[in-house]
Amino acid sequence: MTVHLPRKITRRAFLSTSSKVVLGVSGVLLGDTALFYYGAVHGKKQDEPATREIPSSFVKVGAIEQLHAMTGYEKIFYTATIEDAWVKTPKQGFVYVTKDERGALVILSPACTHLGCSVEPATEAQRSRKKELFFWCPCHGAEFDIVGTSVGMVLPELERYKPLLIEGNVYVDISTPEKRA
Ligand code: FES
Repeated sequence: MTVHLPRKITRRAFLSTSSKVVLGVSGVLLGDTALFYYGAVHGKKQDEPATREIPSSFVKVGAIEQLHAMTGYEKIFYTATIEDAWVKTPKQGFVYVTKDERGALVILSPACTHLGCSVEPATEAQRSRKKELFFWCPCHGAEFDIVGTSVGMVLPELERYKPLLIEGNVYVDISTPEKRA
């Protein structure tokens, strides 16, 4: 009678099989992530994940294609509701959308970091006197560049909101300005 002994598993065979399993699982996970990103960027309709419920504090800034084509700035008005436990607080206002020198979207609160008045885009005459000037504050004259950095008084930068890409549109969470160093 022939007795078949179990095949001996060498250390090399074990490592080879384990690494294939790990690579396979990683591939599946990366594939899902890429699909979601593709769907979000290109507004893909087929095979995209189920639409998530958009929180009431999220404000739609615009379609990604239009914002990429934008020059200068956009002023986007919004109405949102901030929910804190069981308290719902309606909020209305606007944000400025600009781009940095690399073309990345910058979404700014208009609240002046001096005493909170709303900043306004500088006029051509103002900008001709100071090249980097883009926003100014009519209350006490604070000046900011296109990404919200103070270029006059010593002041913190304008608050920013992180752009969030959802199904081809850019949103910001108006309840949570971005933390900057
Ligand atoms: S509130 Fe803007 S400069 Fe004072």
